[in-house]
Amino acid sequence: KKLAIFASGRGSNAEALHDAIKAGTINGDIVVVVTDHADAGVIERAERWNVPVIVIERKGFESKDAFEQAMIDAIAPYSPDGIVLAGYMRLLGPTFITPYENRILNIHPALLPSFSGLHAQGQAVVAGVKVSGCTVHFVDTGMDSGPIIMQNTVPVYADDTEDTLAERLLPIEHVTYKEALALFCDDKLEIKDHIVHIKG
Ligand code: GRF
Repeated sequence: KKLAIFASGRGSNAEALHDAIKAGTINGDIVVVVTDHADAGVIERAERWNVPVIVIERKGFESKDAFEQAMIDAIAPYSPDGIVLAGYMRLLGPTFITPYENRILNIHPALLPSFSGLHAQGQAVVAGVKVSGCTVHFVDTGMDSGPIIMQNTVPVYADDTEDTLAERLLPIEHVTYKEALALFCDDKLEIKDHIVHIKG
């Protein structure tokens, strides 16, 4: 499948997915990288991969819809089969989601529906949970609310901080996203009543 990766920052999840694609464990091809930050670390990664990068900053547009329509128009020439949000820190609305319904994936650093939104690792630490983890899910118009594809867990220790938990969780995110994206690219995922089934 042709994949568009959206990232706002460092891009370590994007790098992990790129590695898996190169290793042949994901039947995908990253055709374009989109970011909303002109200084995002993911840009130099995409340049290293020789993948086109499109910077689309929200501040250039008078409305969220105009911003999202610009993203739709910018990626159209690449005709992606899937949109992979990898540390993309904006909520997408119906203007963007509708044309790509059930073809947008996201990774969230908590066990949804717990701790949706920002600073999820910090929320888990403050809540005193003993187990947290990450969630790969399809994106719908809610916040971190789409059908769950895959989850994996990590222990949370009493002396953890947001940063120590985030550090423990990040490599697990990479493993989880690689596995989930591989299934998506092989058309092994189907959604029935908000529940994702993996086809044999
Ligand atoms: C990851 O922890 C991801 O779960 C969250 O933001 C972080 C992005 O990290 N959405 P990176 O840019 O993939 O390194």
